[in-house]
Amino acid sequence: LEVDINNKIAGIQPTMYGVFFEDINFAADGGLYAEMIKNRSFEFTVDPFLGWDQPNSDKHSFNKNSGIGSIVKYADNTGNTNFIRVKVNDDKGYELINEGFRGMGIKEGESYNLYFSAAKHSGNISKINVEFIGENNTVLGETSVDITSTDWTDYTAQILATNTLAKAKLKFTFEGTGEIDLDMISLFPVDTWKGREKGLRKDLVQLLYDLDPGFLRFPGGCIVEGRTLARRYQWKKTVGPIENREVLVNRWNTEFNHRLTPDYYQSFGLGFFEYFQLSEDLGAEPLPILSCGMACQFNSGELVPMDELDPYIQDAIDLIEFANGAIDTPWGKLRNEMGHPKPFNLKYIGVGNEQWGPDYIERYKVFEQAIKAQYPEMIIVSGSGPFPDGDYFEYGMEELKKLNAEIIDEHYYCSPEWFRENATRYDSYDRNGPKIFAGEYAAQSVAIASPENRNNWECAFSEAAFMTGLERNAEVVNLTSYAPLMAHEEGWQWTPDMIWFNNLQSYGTANYQVQKLFSTNRGTDLISVTNNGKALTGQNELYASAVTDSGTNEVIVKVVNTSNQSQEVAINLKGEKVYKKGELIVLKSENLEDENSFENPDKIVPVTAEIQNKSGRIQLDLQPYSVSVIKFKTR
Ligand code: AHR
Repeated sequence: LEVDINNKIAGIQPTMYGVFFEDINFAADGGLYAEMIKNRSFEFTVDPFLGWDQPNSDKHSFNKNSGIGSIVKYADNTGNTNFIRVKVNDDKGYELINEGFRGMGIKEGESYNLYFSAAKHSGNISKINVEFIGENNTVLGETSVDITSTDWTDYTAQILATNTLAKAKLKFTFEGTGEIDLDMISLFPVDTWKGREKGLRKDLVQLLYDLDPGFLRFPGGCIVEGRTLARRYQWKKTVGPIENREVLVNRWNTEFNHRLTPDYYQSFGLGFFEYFQLSEDLGAEPLPILSCGMACQFNSGELVPMDELDPYIQDAIDLIEFANGAIDTPWGKLRNEMGHPKPFNLKYIGVGNEQWGPDYIERYKVFEQAIKAQYPEMIIVSGSGPFPDGDYFEYGMEELKKLNAEIIDEHYYCSPEWFRENATRYDSYDRNGPKIFAGEYAAQSVAIASPENRNNWECAFSEAAFMTGLERNAEVVNLTSYAPLMAHEEGWQWTPDMIWFNNLQSYGTANYQVQKLFSTNRGTDLISVTNNGKALTGQNELYASAVTDSGTNEVIVKVVNTSNQSQEVAINLKGEKVYKKGELIVLKSENLEDENSFENPDKIVPVTAEIQNKSGRIQLDLQPYSVSVIKFKTR
């Protein structure tokens, strides 16, 4: 293989490898957002008691012996309209228990912050006792809170866990009898990402941080669109005080699911402010995607009439002000009040998620004109519909080209073979046309989103082979992201996913390791790697791409061997002198079906070794089914 270090073909965009976050598979509530109480403000529409139990009473009727909690609705119309009124008849008998998100993960020796609002309504209730409980009501940590007022008052306490358990519950008992009102009952680990109160789960953010993502796309995915327009994602309802954020049934609740998840709601505790903050933490460009006035075309496909599109466009304009506006603008003021006076430097905005057809193009044009009129520097991401080469794919691409669209988002969930065979997908794309955002892709070991779909090694190395094609075409492909990003072991609706977690653990799949290898070796400039003058796009089942990094003065070559044989190759580094010693990072596994797992999270992880070159020539034995990264510093 010939690598021409001085032949710089194109810049590699810092956004080349990023992450796509959607609240699917309990990725936000029950996942990244570290809240441990499910249905903390009794707002779940299907049943405001979902997640709660009152074992010694009948939870839906009054006047049981021990006591009963019942839902009361506020007369006013804030986002948070319900609270629970607990009537305690027997303070030795009544219990109110929250089950968490398929349990609560608690760790021995760690502390948890409890928050709630309460108002004594009648009687003499003086204290609330709170306990972590395990099997057979074993107590695994406890605290108590004195109740002092008949007015709504915010209370906090801390509980130290005395044991580790993935499926603890939180139990409330009361001292005294009478009625007490409770709302926004919330519990978070003290140890969150960056120690932020009511923050994000540390291990999950760490996995994202380690990817060094160039951008963070949020909040989806189909949840941007909603099954109906009324259920679309509305960012304005996700900012400001969390207790006023109106809960919404998640688009991934129950239907189209291989697991029933009737308890899947969005609390929006992880809202747009938190997404921007997370982007900043990760050093990633924020990339919000907004509804374009079309509900999910896989569902209702409901359309906003063209003459009623204004509020949707205003949402986009106001979002830019929320992110970037001065603190004396209405939305910049809110950002400031939420604790971020400085702008978030939003550069990209997505119009619609995975929309297609003339209805989309018609709406996209209006958004584009309005956004550019006010914010000409804003880069707009447009959609091309689902999966490549569908009915409307060509149509959308042509129309968007005519409109000089800047970045088009393509999605593909295909077989591992498809990924290997399509490493040349972008070789023929117009260098002067729109840039490409490969915004959602993942190899499917079975059929798309099937429960048998696995994050296996064949899928992962096939994605790596394809990614050399993305990289070779960095002139056109400016952003890429695997999807979906995260899944709860017991709460998922879609497989495969890049990161799996349960209430205590999390791990990166083999696909995660591939993403990380490319992202942390992205370089700054594309250079050529050829065999007899040709790019390596699957000849002898080998794929390759190469970059230099002007920051670290390195040349980085990525070679994927998708065959079951080891293959000898020689790499000639031409054009610059390189140091004698370099680094070889190999990600491999023996079998196509191999996977990382909770039991063996490090089965497929990169191994680094030192390698030498002789006058710029490196002799390599590429392992069967392997992804190799070769790095040398230039002099
Ligand atoms: O990633 C899962 C879903 O796939 C996304 O929500 C949607 O954009 C696509 O259809």
